[in-house]
Amino acid sequence: MVNQDKINELIEKRAKARLGGGEKRIDSQHAKGKMTARERIELLLDEDSFEEFDMFVTHRTKSFGLDKQIYLSDGVVTGHGTIDGRIVYVFSQDFTVFGGSLSETYALKICKVMDMAMKVGAPVIGLNDSGGARIQEGVRSLAGYAEIFQRNIMASGVIPQISSIMGPCAGGAVYSPALTDFTIMTEGTSYMFVTGPKVVQTVTGEVVTTEQLGGAKIHSTKSGVSHFLAKNDEVNLLLIRKLLSYLPSNNLEEPPVLDCSDPIDRLEDILNDIIPENPNKPYDIIDVISAVTDRAEFTEVHRNYARNIVVGFARFNGRPVGIVANQPKYYAGVLDIEASRKAARFVRFCDAFNIPIVTFVDVPGFLPGTGQEYGGIILHGAKLLFAYGEATVPKVTITLRKSYGGAHDVMSCKQLRGDVNYAWPTAEIAVMGAKGAVEVLEGRNIRKIEDAAEKSEYIQKKEDEYTKKFANPYEAAKYGFIDDVIEPRNTRFRIIRALELLANKKDLNPPKKHSNIPL
Ligand code: HXC
Repeated sequence: MVNQDKINELIEKRAKARLGGGEKRIDSQHAKGKMTARERIELLLDEDSFEEFDMFVTHRTKSFGLDKQIYLSDGVVTGHGTIDGRIVYVFSQDFTVFGGSLSETYALKICKVMDMAMKVGAPVIGLNDSGGARIQEGVRSLAGYAEIFQRNIMASGVIPQISSIMGPCAGGAVYSPALTDFTIMTEGTSYMFVTGPKVVQTVTGEVVTTEQLGGAKIHSTKSGVSHFLAKNDEVNLLLIRKLLSYLPSNNLEEPPVLDCSDPIDRLEDILNDIIPENPNKPYDIIDVISAVTDRAEFTEVHRNYARNIVVGFARFNGRPVGIVANQPKYYAGVLDIEASRKAARFVRFCDAFNIPIVTFVDVPGFLPGTGQEYGGIILHGAKLLFAYGEATVPKVTITLRKSYGGAHDVMSCKQLRGDVNYAWPTAEIAVMGAKGAVEVLEGRNIRKIEDAAEKSEYIQKKEDEYTKKFANPYEAAKYGFIDDVIEPRNTRFRIIRALELLANKKDLNPPKKHSNIPL
């Protein structure tokens, strides 16, 4: 009987912990269209796979009347479970307890799962819904965050770290996600800011709404802080599962290969005609990507940010790859500051986790002008250059159309250890386009011609000559910079064969403490 009493006590305590901040606050969470911390875990993980740690942890603060406000679990639910049968560690912040704000013991709970994840080599998923450092705990809370940050940093490049933002997150609750690999924000209910609108108004006088300050749309389009935009919590959680399906559990493993029923030698005739005759006419690079990947699937990362470059995950014959592609549909696919940063970070992620990179090139060059120069395009462009040159994973590059100037070098060219570099017959690989080249090379001769008609005829003649000589793939192929010129409709097969040949590729960087990428 005594035993039964004790078991009943356990059951009661568990039930109490599961209520978080109480029914009223749970109702208010639901009324905002948000799920609770535990409901999110349920949906994220494989059925019945969740095992919770530290359900009975409480905070230790006595001041500000907190000794009378004790909640089991103290505002964060932690533990492990599986996704598609693979182990993951998870923490889910509970906004119903002190607005999900972080106490010292709460931080220790998160640190415990992060340490376990590092020991067993499994991803960590953070479901964030928190007002940041718990103000009543003062520096102990700041120290708690710093403990988490240090672990985020040590885990970077070792295990995948994914952050979902599912509520108004401030302070430390945004800096930890910023240190992780991917951030997914829920539209309408999630916000990220260093500090919220109330404090902003007090400190600077600026009146701003939460949405304007750090809504999901802002961070997915303007700042690039968020990699994915989800229309609700359910979609957010399903995106995590999808993302993990491309990733190994840690940096010592290979990404999971799935069975592929899509024929590897599928010919795509539309690709033979996809490049418009007029070189200034755009087309959608997504049409090219979905024509060649398994079952036309492509999980785009940063879809709404720096749209002149496209990055994301797909599979070729079941093998996950990272795809980087210039997007002629936006700003002619030019490389600018945002595009360079976006692609560089993606390339480095793929390299850290053994994911081969397939690059589709159609780039007119770097965007010129003071806006870009003052913003440091030299450094940001160099990031992408650095990332490609440093990467040791298999790199397959297909040049579809333009590949001009510095942008040609940057986009995984042969000399940056591109392993297999193919070009379509429509490729134009040169230092610059015909117009610019003729202006530079023929400037003196052009200026001597006085008659306007004669002048324009001369320019046209010289541009045609230049185009004939350089706007093709054969000049580069002549030097072995392009391994082969391929028929566009055969691209899927050629990529798959290249990736299979490269599956056991070994490439090394010299021993060093770490590189000094131009940050
Ligand atoms: C303690 C907090 C809290 C916090 C919210 N609450 N944030 N309690 N510490 N940081 C409590 C509220 O008092 C309230 O309690 C409940 O949580 C819900 O909060 P509301 O304000 O009613 O909710 P909402 O209107 O949705 O606004 C959410 C919010 C706002 C935008 C997060 O609460 C806010 O701006 N909080 C402060 C955010 C902030 O500046 N954090 C930075 C901390 S410094 P009751 O009992 O009334 O329901 C930091 C530095 C770390 O994190 C290091 C970084 C490098």
